[in-house]
Amino acid sequence: MNNEITINGDRFTIYLTEDQIKARVKELAARINEDYKDKVPIFIGILNGSFIFFADLVREISIDCEVDFLKLSSYGDAKISSGQVRLLKDLNCQVTGRDIIVVEDIVDSGLSIDFMKRLVMKEHPRSFRVASLLLKKSVAKIEFPIDYVGFEIPPEFVIGYGLDYAQKVRNLRAIYRLAPKD
Ligand code: PRP
Repeated sequence: MNNEITINGDRFTIYLTEDQIKARVKELAARINEDYKDKVPIFIGILNGSFIFFADLVREISIDCEVDFLKLSSYGDAKISSGQVRLLKDLNCQVTGRDIIVVEDIVDSGLSIDFMKRLVMKEHPRSFRVASLLLKKSVAKIEFPIDYVGFEIPPEFVIGYGLDYAQKVRNLRAIYRLAPKD
């Protein structure tokens, strides 16, 4: 695995390795398996960023579960949120009375997950929890907990394992952070 990559002239250094991510995903899944052992939760992935974490997480889930996806966009191709969350694809599942676990790759400003929670709560689920691989705790403005957090990270620009740089590099197996300019 490369410890350093350069994309469009920007240098990125390794932040979380494939093995670190794999181990943490297993731990989160074990907690979810225990917490939901008599339930059949619906995992809702927020596209696009969550798709790899989502696939890895649900493959560690041993209880019965369902999956669905919703597509939001707030960043476009930029490194900083536009501040406007747009719903690009709605849910197909019936949320009412169900146990919902929303799966995110990252909670950054908190705008997307806040938007998502409002949307889901309108349908009166039995319960609502969030699993996010990454949480920028110092900048996220949310009035509810992120129940399953992979890693709390500082407010730095990170890519890979689902997270894009101008829509590319989502397929990297590890997570990299933008290195300071020399
Ligand atoms: C990213 C990421 C989260 C959101 C987090 O999505 O996947 O959904 O931003 O940021 P926030 O907490 O500041 O709202 P993005 O809008 O870039 O779309 P993508 O998932 O297709 O990359």
